[in-house]
Formats: sequence, structure tokens, C-alpha cells
Amino acid sequence: MHASHFDRSAAKPELYETLARSLDALIGDEPDALANLSNAAALIWEALPDINWAGFYVLRGGELVLGPFQGRPACVRIAMGKGVCGTAAANRETLVVPDVQKFPGHIACDEASRSEIVVPLIANGNLVGVLDVDAPNANRFDDDDRAGLERVAALLAQKVRWERI
Ligand code: SME
Repeated sequence: MHASHFDRSAAKPELYETLARSLDALIGDEPDALANLSNAAALIWEALPDINWAGFYVLRGGELVLGPFQGRPACVRIAMGKGVCGTAAANRETLVVPDVQKFPGHIACDEASRSEIVVPLIANGNLVGVLDVDAPNANRFDDDDRAGLERVAALLAQKVRWERI
């Protein structure tokens, strides 16, 4: 069931298809949010080439709080509207930042990050967190990444029991 067979050189749509199917299989009927977000972070980390951080911030008490991730230790709390994560969360819209050095208010957790994509997680109409992926190169994320990661976010939003994280 575990996918260590990602062909990282595959075209992006194919790669994201494999990623979505693997995640779906890995979740199965498990509703636990912590477990599923942990596996999702690990799977994204394994599947995608040229990234240096992949993980989640969950909404707690009106703030984004660090959740399961892969990569270097990161900022623990991000206020709504702050940084790339807080902006995507406040607008409830995916945000692709081609060059973080040109994004006013970007929060630099890892100096190595140059581009970033943040996808809000919306479950039953409520914002429950964000999925954040960082890359060491500028312009790493395009519309294929947006579509692929929005699919991952939608899967998690639907299948996870969010009230228990
Ligand atoms: N760069 C993000 C902060 C989170 S880290 O990249 C893991 C931001 O500006 O919101």
C-alpha cells in the first residue's frame, strides 16, 4: 500500500495522479486528522522533486498553528492575513508565490525557500488549515502544481475528521 515508487521525473499531471491515488489509498476509512496529515506530508515530500518543505498549518483559536510536516523546523504560529500562509487562509484562495523575496510580508522560516504554494483546506465551508509547500528555486510551482495540490487538499478536507485535531 505504501508508495515508494514515485517516478519523480514523470510529467506533473501524472505525478499528481499517482500522488492523489496513493493518498486516497493510504487514508482508506481512517478519519484521524493527525495521522492522515502526517502521512500526507510524508507522501508529498516523497513524491515531489525540488522542494524543501511540505506540510500543514491548522486553524486553532483563530490562528494558524504548525501541524505535521517534512523539512526543517518552521514557525509555530502565523496570524490570519500574515505571510503567504495567512494571506491564502484569509482569502480562502490558493496562493502561488514565484519569488518569496518579492512577496511583502513573507515569513522566512527557512532561508533556502525561494518559491512557495499555499492551498487553503476548506471542510464543509469552514477553513480548517492550509497546505504549504516550499521550494529552493524561484518559479517552482505552476498551474499543474496548483491543480494537483488542490486535489490533495480536497481529499483531506473531505475525508478527515477535523474537529479532533
Ligand atoms: N513562508 C510561510 C511561512 C511558513 S514556512 O514557509 C514553512 C509564509 O510566509 O507564510
